[in-house]
Amino acid sequence: MKPLGRRFDAYQAFLLGCKTYWSNTLYPQVKSECYTKNDEKSFDAIENSSRDNVTYQYYSYLERHLQRMKYSGRYGIVPMHEPFRPELEQKLDENLPKNLLTLQNNFEPPSYFTAIDIHQHPGGTCGDTLAGFVYERGSRSMWPGGSKDRGLHSRFNAIVKSICEPQRVLDLGCGFGKSTQPFAEDFPGGKVLGVDVSAPCLKLAALTAYKNQLQNIQYHQCNAENTPFSSASFDLVTSTMLLHEMPPKAIRKLIRESFRLLDNGGYAIHLDYLTDDDPFNQFIHFGHAQRNNEPFMKPLSEMGLGNVMQDAGFKDVKVEPFEEAPNALSPNNRAWRFPWIIVTGQRP
Ligand SMILES: C[S@@+](CC[C@H](N)C(=O)[O-])C[C@H]1O[C@@H](n2cnc3c(N)ncnc32)[C@H](O)[C@@H]1O
Repeated sequence: MKPLGRRFDAYQAFLLGCKTYWSNTLYPQVKSECYTKNDEKSFDAIENSSRDNVTYQYYSYLERHLQRMKYSGRYGIVPMHEPFRPELEQKLDENLPKNLLTLQNNFEPPSYFTAIDIHQHPGGTCGDTLAGFVYERGSRSMWPGGSKDRGLHSRFNAIVKSICEPQRVLDLGCGFGKSTQPFAEDFPGGKVLGVDVSAPCLKLAALTAYKNQLQNIQYHQCNAENTPFSSASFDLVTSTMLLHEMPPKAIRKLIRESFRLLDNGGYAIHLDYLTDDDPFNQFIHFGHAQRNNEPFMKPLSEMGLGNVMQDAGFKDVKVEPFEEAPNALSPNNRAWRFPWIIVTGQRP
């Protein structure tokens, strides 16, 4: 893909600079003012006192509008892709090797997914033929500590590798392949299948796998709640940042479906966000969910994901914090971060 131009780069770098100020300076200030004002420290007390707090109002304004500008502003990702539409669409329709990508005719993504512009991405990841390119560019500046490389996914894969050495991997909600590709590279003797509801993302994922000459990867369009694959056909069912995009009913179906798909002894390992029960952390995370159009983040934190895994039949279920970048979990890190967790369970 051609560069989108100096104006685009300067505008996006400016937004990321503002986001870094928001994360590293404003967030610790909101936290400190909140704790000075609230002896009680209940969720309701924090919410009530924050409503009129100017630092919190500024924090919330920036959180909402920097993200809006990133996608939809004058030099936002969506308008800046528009002039390249014909050539990008042509690229996506390139002939790919047979079986690399399977799309469904007349596939209907779930209504909970199409009803909202998730992450403030206009139309979400399914809404436009260029949505995969837009999402890929957006993912490079998801949060100030993140970067365009695969740091987060490599760290996740290192943990997965310490748990199991799967030969048959299913990556649910694979997007444009950023979470799938590291599995194909780390387990070259195995087979990796990425599934998603979004055709534009899957097309970009398949194109990238083809360009990177990854022979052990395939992509398939389907809903992770209900896949067309045979029972006991995988050693690992995984997802990265998928669960918080689904309502609890759909997550329960996905967990039961993962159990069906796993062979005996296989693992389900999901990377996502769950707050702890600290009221300030909840206030910030649930506020983020509202400001970033992510309505299912709060229900995910409240549904008891570990119990859902156990009820589905998984054993040795663990929900553990995940350090997404070096020192992210250090007490010296005062910056804003997502409450990353990994949930793991084994099919007996
Ligand atoms: C935040 S993205 C994460 C993508 C990828 N796992 C990564 O780490 O870059 C979530 C993805 O889940 C997909 N998705 C949402 N609901 C889904 C569902 N019910 N079944 C399959 N995919 C879904 C979206 O289209 C999107 O590509």
